[in-house]
Amino acid sequence: MARVTANTIDIEKAAGVLRAGGLVALPTETVYGLGANAEDPAAVARIFQVKGRPPSHPLIVHIGGAEQLDGWVQDVPRAARLLAEHFWPGPLTLVLRRGPRVPLEATGGLETVAVRVPGHPVALALLAAFGGGVTAPSANRFGQVSPTTAEDVRAELGDAVDFVLDGGPCEVGVESTIVDVTGEVPSILRPGGVTREDLEAVLGAPLAVPATSPVRVPGQHPSHYAPRARVVLVEPDQVVAEAELARERGHHVGVFLPPAFPGATVEAHAVVRVPASMPAYARGLYGFLRRLDEQGCDLIVASLPVEEGLGLAIANRLRRAAGPRPTV
Ligand code: TXA
Ligand code: MG
Repeated sequence: MARVTANTIDIEKAAGVLRAGGLVALPTETVYGLGANAEDPAAVARIFQVKGRPPSHPLIVHIGGAEQLDGWVQDVPRAARLLAEHFWPGPLTLVLRRGPRVPLEATGGLETVAVRVPGHPVALALLAAFGGGVTAPSANRFGQVSPTTAEDVRAELGDAVDFVLDGGPCEVGVESTIVDVTGEVPSILRPGGVTREDLEAVLGAPLAVPATSPVRVPGQHPSHYAPRARVVLVEPDQVVAEAELARERGHHVGVFLPPAFPGATVEAHAVVRVPASMPAYARGLYGFLRRLDEQGCDLIVASLPVEEGLGLAIANRLRRAAGPRPTV
């Protein structure tokens, strides 16, 4: 269980901030979100401002229970109903046709809307106290690593957020899986906390996994979820050699030592021993990247896990972290 530090007074206070058009950082089981009243276009606009996120990039509307879904969307296809029943509350986001309650500011002008019921007791308590929907992207500046503790949020956003609800460290650690259920065949737009295998078991049919989404999804940018340090991906058995070479060239190297080499030693500025369990790796991933940044690494050498189960989401985030950076 997550260490839950927010109390009833905090929840009431946070709900009041949302009602007044303010921004609340809230814990979810995946990562911390930067929340606003979904039906308040001015509050939603502030999210984009604080994150430095282009206004065309759609947000997720968080609701308090699957039974509320019909109030936010045009229609709920059978597959969506099935997935919502099985995985909510939990790390699954469904993309459906937008209902009139959802302002276009929250969807980046799209006629579809992403909705999820978060599986964290503090988030659910906030949604119950507030009564409405909360739009919340991850509580980081655009393109950066998502925060998985309240301390990460404060370090990232400081005074730009009106209230931070502390719900302890996030249990899942990578963002929700986004499934588009508006087409003939449901398709995964972003791998995340619910695995493809589990989704397919519930649907009884394979999911489409498009290489590039036709929709504007920030997670689809080559560089996203990125630490300050440059990230280099190599084969697992090349990690030590690559890291030591970079060190000889004068880099402050951070190493993600793969679990396949438990006894390996490496000369480096900072070393993360990657957990063998995928849930533990997902839970730790963003924290590892942040800590290596804090320790002054300018280069991180890592390898990809096997891309099954949660390994699919972890590999997706590492690839984005290693993607070409925009030149300023
Ligand atoms: O786990 C999560 O999903 C976290 C927590 C806070 O709930 N939220 C999160 O939000 O990761 P954000 O804004 O960082 O990522 C939301 C993703 C974006 O890639 C966005 O493009 C996509 O959801 N999205 C939102 N609405 C969409 C839509 N109508 N169609 C396709 N993608 C959409
Ligand atoms: Mg994000």
